[in-house]
Amino acid sequence: MNKLIIEGGVPLAGDVRVSGAKNAVLPIMAAALLADSPVTVENVPHLHDVTTTMELLGGMGVSLMVGDKMSIEVDPGTIDAYRAPYELVKTMRASILVLGPLLARHGRAEVSLPGGCAIGTRPVDVHLQGLEAMGAEIEVREGYIHARCSRLKGRRIVMDVVTVTGTENLMMAAALAEGTSVLENAAREPEVVDLARFLRAMGAEIEGEGTDTIVIHGVPHLSGTRYRVLPDRIETGTFLTAAAMTGGRVKTLATDPELLESVLLKLEQAGARVNTGADWIELDMRDRRPKAIDLRTAPYPAFPTDMQAQFMALNCVAEGTAHIIETVFENRFMHVQELMRMGADIQLEGHTAMVRGVDHLTGAPVMATDLRASASLILAGLVARGETRVDRIYHIDRGYEGIEEKLARLGARIRRIPA
Ligand code: EPZ
Repeated sequence: MNKLIIEGGVPLAGDVRVSGAKNAVLPIMAAALLADSPVTVENVPHLHDVTTTMELLGGMGVSLMVGDKMSIEVDPGTIDAYRAPYELVKTMRASILVLGPLLARHGRAEVSLPGGCAIGTRPVDVHLQGLEAMGAEIEVREGYIHARCSRLKGRRIVMDVVTVTGTENLMMAAALAEGTSVLENAAREPEVVDLARFLRAMGAEIEGEGTDTIVIHGVPHLSGTRYRVLPDRIETGTFLTAAAMTGGRVKTLATDPELLESVLLKLEQAGARVNTGADWIELDMRDRRPKAIDLRTAPYPAFPTDMQAQFMALNCVAEGTAHIIETVFENRFMHVQELMRMGADIQLEGHTAMVRGVDHLTGAPVMATDLRASASLILAGLVARGETRVDRIYHIDRGYEGIEEKLARLGARIRRIPA
């Protein structure tokens, strides 16, 4: 397994281009299954999860062609199977996103249950309850979801929890259902909004995306289209947090400040100077140490759980003591033990972490456990004294396009070595 070797102590400086959003491109590629003709998706990040999604769709007979300018053409017309196998689903839970489109377009689907992952049990009960309410017959046996329906019917569905992919699955299913669906307690994440815009570009009739009530009027068919995916707000936030921790100045390009207002507010509270434009954000923290920042994760537009680990790393070297409360996932503190190996002072009590800022961290061999935990270990390595070796970085490759190249261009001393 590859490792990343980081020599800490360099304040980051320069410009970095943000890639397309992983958590928008995955549902949008699944939504292509709804169309009667080919779809071209642009600004696709080169990530392992995108490759896995291509494998998943390819395995169903869907034709895929990688174009120029980070685009992928998806032609669902050649589909001849309706199964998402365990071997793929266990490596990427977002595979569950093919369930709604397969049911809506073909009336059948066999999708492996995703199973848990490092950050939590992550059930899909809300996805299944919603699809059953719309008329699907669903049976779970031998680890697979077996689903069938003649034609889904529009329904009013109140989701028990705010679920991003649950909202996305039901929105996609409702797009081709008979009649109108109303999704209450819907997720408001920008990636849900991007999917709604993509569906509308294919001819769907949707309103209310970005609020907690989304109304979808089913249509008889959806056509192929060309669509550019929105920037990755979590990659943006990760680079800005790295700049704040290292006392540098970084400008993120091809992004959108409106996607991460809660994160920018916290960075300013930590003492950073933040300037923004329509598609760029610059953070300046030169010659200053961050101040400790309390935070509580919650669904959008509150502080995103996907930025919690990165802010934990910042608080490890900040001035003062911070309390971090993780309310979305039940086990998203896997990075704490690894940060403590680097000298961090963190105490866990249930869903709360108390982080006392220390004068410095010390490089150490550490192990990545999940995507955003990996990012927090890399950020800690950028400020630690000495060398940090991050193992199991296949986690990081799932969600960050060429992270070591982008950080090296900002001056970081970081390289990848084969294990
Ligand atoms: C999406 O996961 C993202 N993944 C996650 O990003 C992100 O952390 C998460 O939303 C929260 O923002 C993608 O979009 C591909 P949820 P998702 O369903 O949809 C519970 C990353 O790092 N729940 O919003 O799987 C669940 O257990 C990844 O890029 C149910 O109880 O998350 C959790 O506690 C990690 N039943 C909470 O809801 C359900 O049927 C939120 O989960 C569904 C969810």
